[in-house]
Amino acid sequence: MIKYQSPEIPEEVRKIIERDRKVMYGAHTKTPEIPLVVKRAKGCWIEDITGKKYLDLCANFCVASTGHCHPAVVRAIQEQAEEVLHVGACDFYHEAQIKLAEKLVEITPGNEPKKVFYPNTGAECLEATMKMAKYYTKRPKVISFFGAFHGRTYAGMTLSGSKKVQRAGFGPLIPEVYHTLYPYCYRCPLDKKYPECKEGEPERYGVKMLPCVRFLTDEIFERLVDPYEVAAIFVEPIQGEGGYIVPPPEFLKLLRGICDEFGIILIADEIQCGLGRTGKWWAVEHFGIVPDAICIAKGIASGIPMAAVIAKAKFMDPSVDKNAWAYASHGNTFGGNPVACAAALVTIELIEKEFMKNAKEVGDFIISELKKMQENHRIIGDVRGLGLMIGFELVKDKETKEPFPPQVTKDGKNIKEVFMGMAFKRGLIMEGCGKSAMRISPPLSITKEEAQKALEIIEDIITEIEKEI
Ligand SMILES: Cc1ncc(COP(=O)(O)O)c(C=O)c1O
Repeated sequence: MIKYQSPEIPEEVRKIIERDRKVMYGAHTKTPEIPLVVKRAKGCWIEDITGKKYLDLCANFCVASTGHCHPAVVRAIQEQAEEVLHVGACDFYHEAQIKLAEKLVEITPGNEPKKVFYPNTGAECLEATMKMAKYYTKRPKVISFFGAFHGRTYAGMTLSGSKKVQRAGFGPLIPEVYHTLYPYCYRCPLDKKYPECKEGEPERYGVKMLPCVRFLTDEIFERLVDPYEVAAIFVEPIQGEGGYIVPPPEFLKLLRGICDEFGIILIADEIQCGLGRTGKWWAVEHFGIVPDAICIAKGIASGIPMAAVIAKAKFMDPSVDKNAWAYASHGNTFGGNPVACAAALVTIELIEKEFMKNAKEVGDFIISELKKMQENHRIIGDVRGLGLMIGFELVKDKETKEPFPPQVTKDGKNIKEVFMGMAFKRGLIMEGCGKSAMRISPPLSITKEEAQKALEIIEDIITEIEKEI
């Protein structure tokens, strides 16, 4: 057992938390380990109502992409708010909506004509793309992955394969959604080891087959699902909530090949990993494939609610393909809000000018420092990531990969909660992911000095935990 006490809560903070408990739905992420009542935030720093400052290593789950309250983003929001607050993109026209769509089309891979639809949140992207894929293909089935997280609406929830609590009590879910294996190589679901797992596998679509993908083609497509009845495969190119899992290079190429062979639409959910976070605009670019549609939300407008689906025009425009959504097949009220578009345009400009490069540089630095740390510490089992989407997995012993038990304190806390609380006490905001990993997903503006400070705190926590076990 680890000796650990949740952070002390100052009186003024306690009062706010008590008021919150009375009237607010307590979302799953609100934890006693991070009793943070925010007053203001700037760059990578959050100040609470007591005046204490915290280094933000989470960006509120990848949302504060350009740092909190970047002056250029704030100015764009203010200027747009002075002019007009709402123009429905399904009803009238506004130039910011068009400019943003033009930019998104430009930075999204693929030579085929593309179009943009604006949902308001990540989960709504999954609603839209599931409707789009079924409508276009006239097929009823879809595939997604164990470990995936796609949001809390019926489409998002049904596609997710992360935690049973997110699905329990809500059935029946959307029919004909089948989950298959994601290549979580550190703890392979088939108990194999990468790259040895490829030995003896056939060459498919220009690369070696992976046994976890063969589970889809040889088991699911043979026993449960005719691939010609599958409308879409939904995939996170890097699994986020599932544990910041970077798949091996063959994985997305194989999915692309399967989709091409059977006429299936490949939909990349880049809601968490997209738009510069990995050091390229899109995570798929690291794997050399072009999906048929990309979903983005979270960081696209630096904190203003906004989302976009960028898809081949043939799915959305009946003048391009008669199977496309008929006019008014899909739509919404708030999508493409001009204030959100203004924030997104500046966000993209900032990412393009400096933060995408910074994500690669500081991300590479953090990964290499964590790998060095791993050599000296027995509880860092795995370090993985691309750019500023980095995870490290906590284990009891890195040699045996023995996981921490589900409860590591007398009062039943798990290792992620303990880590978050220890970080909070030291002025660092961190969140967990997967079963026992910690995520590092700061604003893309984080400096090397800030990263260094965060790494020192992380090492201090690891040293303290190791003393206890
Ligand atoms: C990959 C991915 N897809 C979808 C969602 C859902 O986004 P939202 O909470 O905006 O609906 C999330 C949120 O964490 C996500 O990480």
